[in-house]
Amino acid sequence: MVKEPPAIYGIIGYPLEHSLSPRMHNAAFKALKVNSVYKLFPLANEQVFTVFMEHLKDEGNPIFGLNVTVPYKEKVLAHIDTVDPFALKAGAVNTLVITHQRKIFGFNTDGPGFLSHWHELGFHLKDKRIAILGAGGTTRAILSVLCLINDRPASIKLYNRTYEKAEALVKELGQKMDASIVEVVNTPEDLDVELADALINTTPVGLKGETQLPVDPNLFHADMLVYDVIYNPAETPLLKAAKAKGAQTSNGLGMLYYQGVLSFTNWAGMDIDAKYKKIMRKALEEGVPA
Ligand SMILES: NC(=O)c1ccc[n+]([C@@H]2O[C@H](COP(=O)([O-])OP(=O)(O)OC[C@H]3O[C@@H](n4cnc5c(N)ncnc54)[C@H](OP(=O)(O)O)[C@@H]3O)[C@@H](O)[C@H]2O)c1
Repeated sequence: MVKEPPAIYGIIGYPLEHSLSPRMHNAAFKALKVNSVYKLFPLANEQVFTVFMEHLKDEGNPIFGLNVTVPYKEKVLAHIDTVDPFALKAGAVNTLVITHQRKIFGFNTDGPGFLSHWHELGFHLKDKRIAILGAGGTTRAILSVLCLINDRPASIKLYNRTYEKAEALVKELGQKMDASIVEVVNTPEDLDVELADALINTTPVGLKGETQLPVDPNLFHADMLVYDVIYNPAETPLLKAAKAKGAQTSNGLGMLYYQGVLSFTNWAGMDIDAKYKKIMRKALEEGVPA
């Protein structure tokens, strides 16, 4: 009997060598006994990215699903046939579903993945004061869900090292949703961390063991959640400092897990059993040194 070639899934972006997504999705494929494989597709520049996206439309191309990461989450929109309403509002796509007819559908599972993780953490967003560091792709997804949900925070203060980028992001989102709860601030001090119910770091500071903290650690307090979207290292200096002040802390591995489950659900066209989700989470956790 001739063995069918596997259906290909994967992630596009650059750089990709540290991605944990192959661990999570390949563990699920193996457990479900489906003939599919999840690969890394590092696309080093925009030219290579454009050619890759054009070939996705080719008849016989074996790729049926992709995750999209930095720096292509926004640029990919130009190559998609149908964009899901939330991804359209957020202006970023991190999941592609490609049909047998080679039609490309785009979704954003970062925002809903973030929300699911905060639900798991037991943090109720309604009327809370949130402070955010960074104004890149991750903040775009997080701000979009926070502005669009019914139980919205009372306020979101946003600080970015490049003020203009934060201002442009909030202005753009404000044209597609009510972003009136978001205020861009000039300095980290203006985030009023001492009054915040949660601080979210979406910058890569802490990824490479940087010890300088983006905010004064003396402002952390026991009635707040400090959340770092970084998951490797599992405890950044920011989280360590917050924990020392009694704050609840979490890294972003749960967000990565939930966005991955939602991507997988989009590819499968249905929800998957809890036992397979557990396998995905275990595969992720095993990929991060304790
Ligand atoms: N847990 C998860 O599921 C998950 C999902 C997505 C991303 N992530 C992680 O989130 C991080 C950011 O991803 P992204 O997609 O948002 O990246 P991005 O679009 O490149 O944005 C990065 C942001 O961080 C700021 N920044 C970069 N280096 C900085 C520095 N040295 N000091 C201060 N600010 C700095 C940038 O400021 P400027 O505007 O001034 O350049 C920008 O606002 C990455 O570490 C990524 O691995 C985690």
